[in-house]
Formats: sequence, C-alpha cells, structure tokens
Amino acid sequence: MQIDTTLLPARGNDAAEILRNDHNVIKSLLRDLTTASGAQRQRVMEQLKGVLTIHNATEENLVYPALNKVADSKMESDHLYHETAEADVLLFELDSMLKERDSSDFGAKAEKFQKAVLAHIDEEENKALPRLAENADPEKARALTESVREFRNALHFETTAV
Ligand SMILES: [Fe+2]
Ligand SMILES: [Fe+2]
Repeated sequence: MQIDTTLLPARGNDAAEILRNDHNVIKSLLRDLTTASGAQRQRVMEQLKGVLTIHNATEENLVYPALNKVADSKMESDHLYHETAEADVLLFELDSMLKERDSSDFGAKAEKFQKAVLAHIDEEENKALPRLAENADPEKARALTESVREFRNALHFETTAV
C-alpha cells in the first residue's frame, strides 16, 4: 500500500479543526465506498486505508492521550481507542474480501463499517473534542495543535521509484 498523503493535508487553525476537516474527507470516501464497484471500489479502498492510517495515528498518538491527561477523561479516551480497534477489524475484513476476490458480502459490510465510523466521528465531534476544548487552557491547546501539525508534517514524504 502506498499512502497518498496529499489526500489529507492538515487544514485548520487548531487541532479540533484539523480533525473535523479530516472527518469530512473520511465521510466522503465512506460514501464512495458504499456506492463504488469494480476497479473504482479498489481505488477508494486504497485511499480510505491511507487516510484512516494517518487520521487514526494522529488521534491515537496525540488526541486520545490529551483527552485522558488534559481533559481527565480516561474512560472516553479508552472507549475511542476500543472503537478504532473494532473499526480496524471491519476494514481488515473488507480489504481481505477484495484481495480474495470475494465480494458477495462487500456492500453490506461496507455499510456496517460506514455506520460504525460515522458514530465514532459523531462521538468525537460532539463529546470528546468539546470536552477537550473545555478543559485545555490556551497553552495546552496551543501545544496540542503544534504537536498535531508536527506529526502530520513528519508523515509527508516523497516516494521515489526503485
Ligand atoms: Fe477516532
Ligand atoms: Fe476522528
């Protein structure tokens, strides 16, 4: 898998805005995944895997720890890690189906995956991020934004042909 990092630029004035913009890209790809077929389905799947790898790594390395330590919400943080792991299983199953050319169940599973990720995004946008915003003083908020930008910049790489 080659990750196209240009699909997910870190856009926004703070960490929450960057994540919300990521979510919009993810939502749009999820819509495409449930409607595409054939080679297009394969393409969307590759893009979605890349985008989720970058987005989830940002949250798991920085945002969920901040939710735990800055917003003092270990339960919410643990819950979001757990949901991400569950969604990863569905994504793995979808990817395996494509690789094994067994697409009989793909549509139903893609919709299940979409539903799970949309619920997770909803929880982040309506519970976790507001809680983090409430509890982070300006210095902590600035530090988190800086860390998210650094992290995302570190993931931008040029690939060279071998
Ligand atoms: Fe998440
Ligand atoms: Fe997210």
